[in-house]
Amino acid sequence: MKAALVESFDEPPHYRAIPEPQAAAGQEIADVIAVGVHPATRGIAAGKHYASATRLPFLAGVDAVVRRPDGDLAFVMAPATGTLAQRIVINPADAIPLPADADPAVIAATMNPALSSWVALRARVPFTAGQSVLVIGATGNAGSMAVKVARHLGAGRVIAAGRNRARLTELLSEGADEVVALTPDGDATAAAYAKAAAEVDVVLDYVWGPPTELAMQAVLGARTEHTRPLDWVQIGGGGGPEITLRGFALISNAIRVLGSGFANVSPDFYRTDFPGLAAAITSGAMAVRPRPMPLVDIEKAWANEDAPGERTVIIL
Ligand SMILES: NC(=O)c1ccc[n+]([C@@H]2O[C@H](COP(=O)([O-])OP(=O)(O)OC[C@H]3O[C@@H](n4cnc5c(N)ncnc54)[C@H](OP(=O)(O)O)[C@@H]3O)[C@@H](O)[C@H]2O)c1
Repeated sequence: MKAALVESFDEPPHYRAIPEPQAAAGQEIADVIAVGVHPATRGIAAGKHYASATRLPFLAGVDAVVRRPDGDLAFVMAPATGTLAQRIVINPADAIPLPADADPAVIAATMNPALSSWVALRARVPFTAGQSVLVIGATGNAGSMAVKVARHLGAGRVIAAGRNRARLTELLSEGADEVVALTPDGDATAAAYAKAAAEVDVVLDYVWGPPTELAMQAVLGARTEHTRPLDWVQIGGGGGPEITLRGFALISNAIRVLGSGFANVSPDFYRTDFPGLAAAITSGAMAVRPRPMPLVDIEKAWANEDAPGERTVIIL
């Protein structure tokens, strides 16, 4: 069968013939239908993600929409074993059932960016309807989905922060109440954060690095309700891998800094909770536009730079 194999961390995956997978007792073989090419997919294939394999070669792909032997559609996450092959082994217990009318390409494009905020708000912080949410990096796919997910889960107020002005304006009609333009002018950016987000309850942070240092200082510096809990959730790292956090920030406000990702949420949560997310995507509540490419064009697909709101999806 055909697959996309990572043979070097310095090259895109290659289109290769590999042996058919073998299912152990309790496992099954599923037909792969669609696989999104997400930042994590690229990061793992480049050896730059915390879930990257140490040995080459390996199968690219972190998740997939599959058809199970009984004909049902399902979504699976398998960052450790890969998904970009015509057929893969799955553990039935880990298969998230999809509605029969789900569009596989839309699910493949949308689940990864949408689940980041879904998991953060439902599993990582004690978020309740009516609270306010600041999304940093809201102009990317995961950030844009976070605006919609927060709204879908009952946020009282959603503030979207990002660099792309045109996309920020669009977000005002996609669930954001207010926007913060991230510009090279640090003082203006800090003032915009202070005005819009001083009393926010939850921050979903897709950027990290120096832009987060600026945001944290601006929000905490303007905050007047110092005992009001503030959960600052690190989800993505396009702005840099680390921040410097002043101890004074931690003791002068009720801030909790935590992360949300593959590794720190129980698989049981995915099994029980993701059907709700898949249903929300299928109903049209949120969607990233798929940019379909065939498996044979995997190297070209890797060179794609997706437009805002779009994600490359390999169709098998
Ligand atoms: N932990 C999880 O569960 C999880 C799940 C999905 C994604 N993620 C992570 O979330 C991040 C975003 O994913 P995505 O799917 O949204 O990717 P994406 O569509 O490529 O968007 C990347 C976003 O990062 C922003 N960005 C990058 N560097 C920045 C900087 N220096 N200052 C301000 N903004 C910056 C971009 O801003 P512009 O629009 O201005 O370019 C864009 O909004 C990635 O790091 C990804 O790995 C985590």
